[in-house]
Amino acid sequence: GTTVRHRIAAVPADGVGTEVVAAGRRVLDALAERSGGAFALDWTELDWGSDHYARTGLMMPEDGLETLRGFDAIYFGAVGWPTVPDHVSLWGLRLKVCQGFDQWANVRPVTFYPGVTSPLRKADDTELDWVVVRENSEGEYAGFGGQNFGAREGTGQVAVQSAVFTETGCERIIRFAFDLARTRSRAKVSSVTKSNAQQYGMVLWDQVFAAVAADYPDVETESVLVDAMSAKFVLRPEDLSVVVASNLQADILSDLGSALAGSLGLASSANLNPEGRFPSMFEPVHGSAPDIAGQGVANPVGAIESGALMLEHLGLPEAARTLHAAVERTLADGVMTRDVGGTASTDEVVEAIVARLG
Ligand code: NAI
Ligand code: MG
Repeated sequence: GTTVRHRIAAVPADGVGTEVVAAGRRVLDALAERSGGAFALDWTELDWGSDHYARTGLMMPEDGLETLRGFDAIYFGAVGWPTVPDHVSLWGLRLKVCQGFDQWANVRPVTFYPGVTSPLRKADDTELDWVVVRENSEGEYAGFGGQNFGAREGTGQVAVQSAVFTETGCERIIRFAFDLARTRSRAKVSSVTKSNAQQYGMVLWDQVFAAVAADYPDVETESVLVDAMSAKFVLRPEDLSVVVASNLQADILSDLGSALAGSLGLASSANLNPEGRFPSMFEPVHGSAPDIAGQGVANPVGAIESGALMLEHLGLPEAARTLHAAVERTLADGVMTRDVGGTASTDEVVEAIVARLG
């Protein structure tokens, strides 16, 4: 048959983002080579990020979204460098893409790998596997508010940062979580809010959750407050399957999840525009890790597994499974970076994974 070619935009951006995207590309290209012509990846690398900002005053060019629009997917590293304020780099690139392309579903699996020590004692003898579904278009990251708001005597400056919840925004992410739950071995959705304290937006979320749940009588449900859910991640993680939460709360919970699985460097994510009107974006959960950047020791697993999520999205589930299995075997064989207790470099992990692609 003819080779299906997928056009991918690579945006490594800053710090370890450049190292893990390069690592991911090597593994994905090796996999494509071994596919016997079943698929090929045509990469275009875009040099956006904090260096671009230093040169031009922008994290990406004015017409960046138009450039990205023509691709089948975006493979992203991380943004953030001490030379640029963090809110400028995040809003100037990553959030611009997520929000500009309506990538409203952020899927973040919490995967426990063989051979990796978890700080959870339970992980030794319990099968743990859950996924955080993050609302990725509004909520606390709606960018709604302002500084120098009605300061009064004695307050100093006043800043207001509001969360915005729409019924449509809540409904689509909650429905997405239920549909995902039906594909998993345990069909259960846990909804997370803080509706006892935040009585408008989070109460709307709870109401929409109850209404959508009625359409999925075959799926187990629970509503848990975010503080209690953070305790549950540690104490009763075997009771979780799909956890759906707002932009900020899911962001925090997914870092907790990946730390429980052993390291932030292991965690992968997909920013999806489920309607396919825009390209979706695949990236590790971690940031640019300036403390270890440039040393060749960044864990590439989060970025490589994000590549597996990208393959799945491109309609290549078999290739995704092959890649995931090679990662699992590599870690089980003890080839891992120092953040998970190993001694291997980024390159050595890449070589070990490539050697196990079969
Ligand atoms: P971070 O995720 O970059 O680092 C947190 C800790 O995890 C550090 O100790 C780091 O060394 C470690 N770590 C992260 N990735 C790793 C990897 N692949 N292998 C081994 N260890 C790894 O978060 P931090 O330090 O809060 O932020 C650093 C910069 O990244 C900031 O500018 C922040 O704004 C940005 N950031 C960007 C994100 C993105 O682009 N999606 C997400 C989170 C932060
Ligand atoms: Mg985060």
